[in-house]
Amino acid sequence: MTQNTLRQAKRLADYQAPDFTITDVELWFELEPATTLLTARYQLKSQRKGATELVLDGQQLELLSVKLNGQQLTPAQYQVTDDHLRIDQMPAQAELELQVRLNPAANTALEGLYLSDSAFCTQCEAEGFRRICYYLDRPDVMARFTTHIIANQQRYPALLSNGNKVAEQQLPDGRVQVSWVDPFPKPCYLFALVAGDFDCLTGQYVTQSGRTVSLEFYVDKGNAARAEFALEALKRAMCWDEQTYGLEYDLDSYMVVAVDFFNMGAMENKGLNVFNSKYVLADQQSATDTDLYNIESIIGHEYFHNWTGNRVTCRDWFQLSLKEGLTVFRDQQFSADMASATLSRIDAVKTIRTHQFAEDAGPMAHPIRPAQVLEMNNFYTVTVYDKGAEVIRMLHTLLGAAGFRQGMDLYFARHDGQAVTCDDFVSAMQDANGRDLSLFRRWYSQSGTPELTVQSSFDAEQQQFKLVFSQHTAATADQQDKRNLLLPVRIELLAKNEKQQHLLVVSEEQQSFSFAVAEPPVAVILADFSAPVRLHYPQSVSQLLTVVQHASDGVARWDAMQQLWSDLVRQAVRSSEPLQVPAEVVALYRALLATPEGDLAFLAELLTPPSFDLLAEQYQPVPVDALLQALQQIRRQLADELAADWLNCYQQLIPAPYAYRQEQVAARALRALCLDYLAQSGQQAELLLQAYQSADNLTDQLAVLKACRNATHPLFETLTAQFEQRWREDVLVLDKWFALKASLPTKDTVYLLPHLTQHPQFSWQNPNRVRAVYMAFAQQNPTIFHAADGKGYQVLQQVVLKLDPINPQLAARLVTPLLSWRRFETHRAAQLKAVLSQMLAQQGLSNDLYEKLSKSLSD
Ligand code: TRP
Ligand code: ZN
Repeated sequence: MTQNTLRQAKRLADYQAPDFTITDVELWFELEPATTLLTARYQLKSQRKGATELVLDGQQLELLSVKLNGQQLTPAQYQVTDDHLRIDQMPAQAELELQVRLNPAANTALEGLYLSDSAFCTQCEAEGFRRICYYLDRPDVMARFTTHIIANQQRYPALLSNGNKVAEQQLPDGRVQVSWVDPFPKPCYLFALVAGDFDCLTGQYVTQSGRTVSLEFYVDKGNAARAEFALEALKRAMCWDEQTYGLEYDLDSYMVVAVDFFNMGAMENKGLNVFNSKYVLADQQSATDTDLYNIESIIGHEYFHNWTGNRVTCRDWFQLSLKEGLTVFRDQQFSADMASATLSRIDAVKTIRTHQFAEDAGPMAHPIRPAQVLEMNNFYTVTVYDKGAEVIRMLHTLLGAAGFRQGMDLYFARHDGQAVTCDDFVSAMQDANGRDLSLFRRWYSQSGTPELTVQSSFDAEQQQFKLVFSQHTAATADQQDKRNLLLPVRIELLAKNEKQQHLLVVSEEQQSFSFAVAEPPVAVILADFSAPVRLHYPQSVSQLLTVVQHASDGVARWDAMQQLWSDLVRQAVRSSEPLQVPAEVVALYRALLATPEGDLAFLAELLTPPSFDLLAEQYQPVPVDALLQALQQIRRQLADELAADWLNCYQQLIPAPYAYRQEQVAARALRALCLDYLAQSGQQAELLLQAYQSADNLTDQLAVLKACRNATHPLFETLTAQFEQRWREDVLVLDKWFALKASLPTKDTVYLLPHLTQHPQFSWQNPNRVRAVYMAFAQQNPTIFHAADGKGYQVLQQVVLKLDPINPQLAARLVTPLLSWRRFETHRAAQLKAVLSQMLAQQGLSNDLYEKLSKSLSD
């Protein structure tokens, strides 16, 4: 194979319907860790008159036999390459039977059929099925699957696949054969098989039409109790989708398997979800409030895919946001309804501003519907997922909840059982509402973050307040020319005796709006972050504080506080003067901490200054040292000037016995913030120890450890050593220890990392372990990761190169923090560029890593 055929990007513009389709698939798996035999029988049909050439996708397969309509083909009658099996003389209708041999035990990439500890499992999205068998591995080929699993019953008592179990029989050789039929035609990326020895937690859900669905959670032995929260979350998700969208589950059973070796969060395979165990297993001792929140959200996400993804799927992988953007939007709505709406929205906004804006400003910039792709795994991004969800949210804002629901109803009425495009989705929204959405569609094809600049003026004579909006999107790495977009802009005008709320639609390059109001108001622009844009609307400290205190929307209040901090940091960076926290801000903190009331989680969020990454994203080039210094100055002043206030607030919040209830979650969040500032002095050892030892849950314990880490408090070493002793055998909890160690902002950390990988529980094969150490290092330890000597970058480089042959998907995710070298000052840019160039010069890089490195270094 030449470099050229390996590195050929695919384009959306080249889409063609397949010449052949597969209507029915029957699979026989004979499972053995090192030599699994698979027999696959396909019913093939021509889709285009005159088509005779069949090209199936396949990778890393050992082909044993090919039969066409019952006739064994000789090797002269087909061609096998590294990526394909080609048969030239295909009849218009035929039965094709293939036999291949697989080695799941050697599969460390965790795509296709692999072993997680001793259990077999599969991961087929996006293009993993081609590592199981030759196939038309594309989502617009939808077939009915029948799966027979043949295995030793002692070793693999649970033999699972999609759909309904239809037969189980003892074979003469002592093995057992279990057969499954999935009645819903599906693309092969939704295929799943699991075989292993699990404990099973079961439950039931009765749907709105009265059908009983059996819910089954397969987990590591001894862990069934830890799946109870996830089981209850699943029932809440099933109920929520019936009530919100009228969508009901469609099979008799819904199975979830938790595995330790998994590249992502979870996978929505029809009727048989596979989850990263960290998003299933949880109890108060072994999981934090945030873990539980994430579990509920991901359980919801995968469940919601059953309609948005499975019943209606994607025509091709460029349309990934059709299912992911929409499903993220749905899981966000679900989380908002289950927990705090404001807090979940703030969370989403932070993700967009910190990670998505950065992606758009870097070498991997792409629209939510990418136009070309080399390695599909590289496009499971914050842009496709989270910006995609923002685009759906804008439709919801523009059409209203009722209009959006009508659009969803029409979408399912038109497309149930089909593989469709993002355009089809927008058309359903458009037609159901009689609205012209042609301008809105640009969001799908244009990358980059629009800059929205606002000027306001007040005409006292006319009693008119005027807002002038101008929008501009700068060129991105992938796309030069940009056009205006349609932006829904929520505003609120705060005047002494009145509040006005409006939804404005900005679609011109420049556009103004006037409002009748008796006196000059303070304006809130982009309330609820109603469009994913960068807003430039200069306001004074006192105006921002008015918004913090009086805006109706919680997100806007939080946002004003963030803006205030960003402005202060910018002044300090510009002037090279130390940052002085204004007296009004200290006073506000003091007042809020004196009698903590209302939504305490919101309060904790309101009082938390922006992160390094969020600030960094606002600069070109990023003044790393000045930013770190400014943040440190904020921390010190808030800690010193408010020492008594943090303590007083902390002591007022007396913990109740642990429960995952909103008021408790909120109180713990605020206590954690108090501890963070109390630890900053390097004192308060007694209070911290007492907090650690009296905690009856992991959330409170981790709060102490993080406070000690952030302050590099002397207690950090002692307490983390205790923690390691206690949780040594429990890898999911131990991951928190790995992450704490890797994110300690002291020089030694960079030398400690290799030692962490010597820990008996560390494994390069397990993505959770690798992420715990190295993602934490690259994302939560800016001081050491960006150290001026470049060591932080070199460490990550070594790890990425080590991982690429083991697990390319993981390597390509870890390389991300290195890619945007152009955004740093000369010195760091040069170091990053050198590190990247060395990597690109390596032989035999995966497509995953090659695509990212070459984009990063191209001019
Ligand atoms: N479809 C999955 C989700 O978002 C994502 C996913 C899980 C995935 N595993 C993967 C994507 C492996 C690519 C590769 O719910
Ligand atoms: Zn998804």
